[in-house]
Amino acid sequence: MTSGPLLKNALVTGATSGIGEATVRALAASGRNVLAVARREARLEALAAETGCSWMAADVRETDRLGGRLRAFAPDIIVNNAGVGHGSAGLEGLDPAAIQEAFDINVVAPVQITALALAGMRERRRGHIVNIGSIAGLHTLVSAVYGGTKAAIHRFGQNLRFELRGSGIRVTELCPGRVSSEFYQAAQGDRDTLDRMGQSGIVELQPQDIADAILFAVNAPAHVNVATIELLPTEQAVGGVQATPVDHLK
Ligand SMILES: NC(=O)c1ccc[n+]([C@@H]2O[C@H](COP(=O)([O-])OP(=O)(O)OC[C@H]3O[C@@H](n4cnc5c(N)ncnc54)[C@H](OP(=O)(O)O)[C@@H]3O)[C@@H](O)[C@H]2O)c1
Repeated sequence: MTSGPLLKNALVTGATSGIGEATVRALAASGRNVLAVARREARLEALAAETGCSWMAADVRETDRLGGRLRAFAPDIIVNNAGVGHGSAGLEGLDPAAIQEAFDINVVAPVQITALALAGMRERRRGHIVNIGSIAGLHTLVSAVYGGTKAAIHRFGQNLRFELRGSGIRVTELCPGRVSSEFYQAAQGDRDTLDRMGQSGIVELQPQDIADAILFAVNAPAHVNVATIELLPTEQAVGGVQATPVDHLK
């Protein structure tokens, strides 16, 4: 059994809130050099003062800007976490710009960032891509657009693991159920529905719970690839059938 070298440099996107912020804290506490990426500069500064992480105020869609910094940082671990819940409340009435943004932020950006990181990882013969998916990418839930983005990132990760076999680079996907965060406040779509969805009334997962699972995956010995983790609040379950009569057939 080999434990391998500690994967030391970790880049985390979406680091100013929720899962990303908790992951920066956890990775920094585990002795990693962390580069935190998100748009809200003041929050990044505060996180850096607290954890000692480096930071870059950037939109994940600015892949040209990110590329230079990423090559200089030489990440061993990429946590593709930045994401938006646009469309969680349904496709109808959703601004076309929000549909574009959902796919650009949740799918195109993590794929581009991963592509930027892979050359260096291949040279060093080690690396770990951690994608934050969702149960919405695995199961049929209410969200066509959001679920579509997360299903895309699910298939991307599963197939990437296959492409990278033999390279020493691992790919992990975390698929959380409901997590307490700013996710529904930040989402675009029908505001009343999003606000209702934001108050689940159950004991939700905490961002720290997801960060703990990420640490489990990245701390695993080099010969272990934690492929997919689905993490639900105990009070949430997936399943059932919702049958709604069609108005004109009644
Ligand atoms: N909350 C849930 O119930 C849940 C369940 C399953 C999966 N997830 C997934 O978990 C991930 C994190 O969500 P969260 O719950 O922690 O939500 P959150 O509290 O809203 O955090 C989202 C983070 O993403 C960043 N972000 C958004 N758009 C960005 C962009 N264009 N460029 C750079 N950063 C951007 C935000 O920072 P800035 O605004 O500062 O850029 C923020 O730091 C997402 O991928 C989400 O789909 C969430």
